Amino acid sequence: MDKKITSIINSKSREAEAFRTLRTNIQYSSLDEEIKTLVVTSSAPSEGKSTVISNLAVSMAQAGKKVLLVDCDFRKPTIHKKFALSNNNGLTNIIIGDAKIEECLKATETERLYVLTCGTIPPNPSEMLGSKAMRKYINDFKEIFDLILIDAPPVLAVTDAQLLAVNVDGVVLISSYGKTEKKAIIKSKELIENVGGKVLGVVLNMVPTKANEYYYSKYYGHYGK
Ligand SMILES: Nc1ncnc2c1ncn2[C@@H]1O[C@H](COP(=O)(O)OP(=O)(O)O)[C@@H](O)[C@H]1O
Ligand SMILES: [Mg+2]
Repeated sequence: MDKKITSIINSKSREAEAFRTLRTNIQYSSLDEEIKTLVVTSSAPSEGKSTVISNLAVSMAQAGKKVLLVDCDFRKPTIHKKFALSNNNGLTNIIIGDAKIEECLKATETERLYVLTCGTIPPNPSEMLGSKAMRKYINDFKEIFDLILIDAPPVLAVTDAQLLAVNVDGVVLISSYGKTEKKAIIKSKELIENVGGKVLGVVLNMVPTKANEYYYSKYYGHYGK
């Protein structure tokens, strides 16, 4: 697995603390219904979707949940790289009936965390993600795991994230500090909500250290009043 991910999550760093906070916020975001399936997406490419979801998956597994991280970015799959796994035998191979679930679930260095990589990149990603088979497999995974985390392509580019949002308990949007425009976040939220998806919150990623310190001091200052 990516050394960076293990060291971040195991440390007492601000990053590790940020992921523990995110974990708690997700757990408390829906009090009546436990979040069992979650899509992570953002408005555009390279805002940190795959990085954040990988760290979150480790953090959730460390908190005692049996977690499945699924790479549903069939256009630019990267989860296998983050965990140094082969991308052979992944979700697309299951959907087309070429492989069985138990052949494709890959264990990781983190206890209780399993990864389902994308598999062979298909010519028709949206069709596959919106298929009945996809819905069935998400339901099957819920029988085996406590939490299913789904990495998705960007919302504004293609319809895939919306198709996935319909079948899950919640969606987390990632934004990149100084890069993601406010109107892009608002538009992404609207697109998810238009199909009946539930946006649980927005993560501000790639915050420079100085700005971060400023943010924290302001935050605590506010609390102190
Ligand atoms: N908080 C962060 N700090 C530093 N680099 C980051 C951070 N989040 C993501 N990156 C880097 O940015 C690049 C894009 O991230 P990635 O997670 O692949 O984005 P996406 O899945 O949204 O396309 C990767 O090289 C990743 O390592
Ligand atoms: Mg990605």
